[in-house]
Amino acid sequence: MPIEISLRHGPSALRAAGALADLYRAAFCGPPWNEDESRVARFVSRLEGDVDRPGFVAAVARMDGRPVGFGTAWRTPAPFPQDRRYGDVTAQLGGEWVSEWLVGAQEIDELAVSPAAQRRGIGPRILEILTGLGTPAGTWLLTSTKSPVTVPFYRKCGWRQVTEDGTEIVVFLSPQHPYCFAGGRWPGQRRSEKEEISDVAPTGDHTQGPDRGGVQASR
Ligand SMILES: CC(C)(COP(=O)(O)OP(=O)(O)OC[C@H]1O[C@@H](n2cnc3c(N)ncnc32)[C@H](O)[C@@H]1OP(=O)(O)O)[C@@H](O)C(=O)NCCC(=O)NCCS
Repeated sequence: MPIEISLRHGPSALRAAGALADLYRAAFCGPPWNEDESRVARFVSRLEGDVDRPGFVAAVARMDGRPVGFGTAWRTPAPFPQDRRYGDVTAQLGGEWVSEWLVGAQEIDELAVSPAAQRRGIGPRILEILTGLGTPAGTWLLTSTKSPVTVPFYRKCGWRQVTEDGTEIVVFLSPQHPYCFAGGRWPGQRRSEKEEISDVAPTGDHTQGPDRGGVQASR
């Protein structure tokens, strides 16, 4: 069945707000997320402000004219936010990597496909289209292991996990992100490289590796 994906930039996305709310409800109010109507309302209210963010875009997938999935994205601002789960990201990656990898890059905020339309490649197509709109700074997203599907899904789509296994909040970089594209290194690899430098000249003047901290949080 043909899938059509349309893009809505900025406030024009609000014309699809009802469809996006229905899709959000269908995707997140059942297991494993089990969100409730208050979370749907919060999504809609966030959307009303998010459409004004630089680089905001919503991709809406339709099958036979019916909305079956959507994704939203925008450019991550500086300074890096600390509300929602962003503080967890900083705690896990450290401010140095957050600045280098995430600030100024495109961020996928929500991705949802209605249960009846899942496992047909719609999620990957939305992801690919949004990623193709990203700046040269690449695209990233954060997700949660509360759903057993998320990490295998993004890995299958070729995204690269840059947070350690075993934490609930997981950060992925798109395959086109400069650090992945250039054979990017994991924070741990870069950190040990820095430790080696510091071993050679332990003056204390060298930049320390990224601050790490395990944070457990739900989506
Ligand atoms: C995650 C989600 C967007 C995936 O969309 P989709 O269109 O169903 O994606 P596809 O199945 O085509 O994804 C490709 C791969 O992801 C993996 N995958 C997707 N759903 C899976 C599931 N339920 N169980 C195991 N693997 C799964 C598979 O490897 C799949 O490839 P395959 O079908 O060839 O085996 C969709 O399941 C969804 O909306 N879930 C609820 C909301 C959500 O979790 N959003 C993302 C987190 S914010």
